Amino acid sequence: MNEDPAFANRRAAARARLDTLEDGASADPTRRAWFHAVYDLAGADPAAVPWADLKPHPLLVDWLRRHRAPGIGLSALDVGCGLGDNAEALAARGLKVTAFDLVPQAIDWARRRFPGSAVDYQVADLFSLPPAFARAFAFVHECYTLQALPPAIRMDAMTALAACVAPGGHLLVITRARFDGDPVNATGPWPLTRAELVGLETAGLHLVDLEETRDPDDGRVHWRAEWFRET
Ligand SMILES: C[S@@+](CC[C@H](N)C(=O)[O-])C[C@H]1O[C@@H](n2cnc3c(N)ncnc32)[C@H](O)[C@@H]1O
Repeated sequence: MNEDPAFANRRAAARARLDTLEDGASADPTRRAWFHAVYDLAGADPAAVPWADLKPHPLLVDWLRRHRAPGIGLSALDVGCGLGDNAEALAARGLKVTAFDLVPQAIDWARRRFPGSAVDYQVADLFSLPPAFARAFAFVHECYTLQALPPAIRMDAMTALAACVAPGGHLLVITRARFDGDPVNATGPWPLTRAELVGLETAGLHLVDLEETRDPDDGRVHWRAEWFRET
């Protein structure tokens, strides 16, 4: 989190503005127009992109540091990469990273922020992925994209993620957690329940680890979940 008060004020104003936007979910349950509007409205101000912390997620950094970092040189995919910080953290660990986002402005912004990066930044849609992504990546990572998609479309999104994992490969998901009785925010994000994450097993992956943990920055409860594709 950025502690600068001016940044925090601009972020609060942007969030308030975004909450008033029609998210278009009735016409398109994937909310594509809403994500485009976020980056349009932000211009060049990261404070106006609610998820842009300008650093990799601390739960990803911790995971990579601790023990289960995937092997150097293996192919990795960062899904819904936003401004690129998580993709860059994966590349810094020696992975050969492809990172994609629906919104061209996000991809342009990531490329500008990391000139000379080894990451292959691409515009792509999770719900209509390039055929070359199918079972192509030894390590697939997603942070906060599932929770930004309405629950009605979530299983489709999880199936699309799973389809990118190569045989013998792993998927890591970092998301805020929701528990029975928690209020549901009409305008999102929609944190995931344990049952939703376990449901990914129906997409052909085996759950290796489902950790309930906290984001060290904001103290919120998160899931950090890892799956494996056998064949
Ligand atoms: C909540 S943000 C998270 C960004 C980044 N992963 C992070 O942790 O900072 C979700 C990102 O997913 C992208 N996104 C939304 N729908 C998508 C889709 N259908 N295909 C690809 N990316 C999508 C958005 O543009 C946005 O950048």
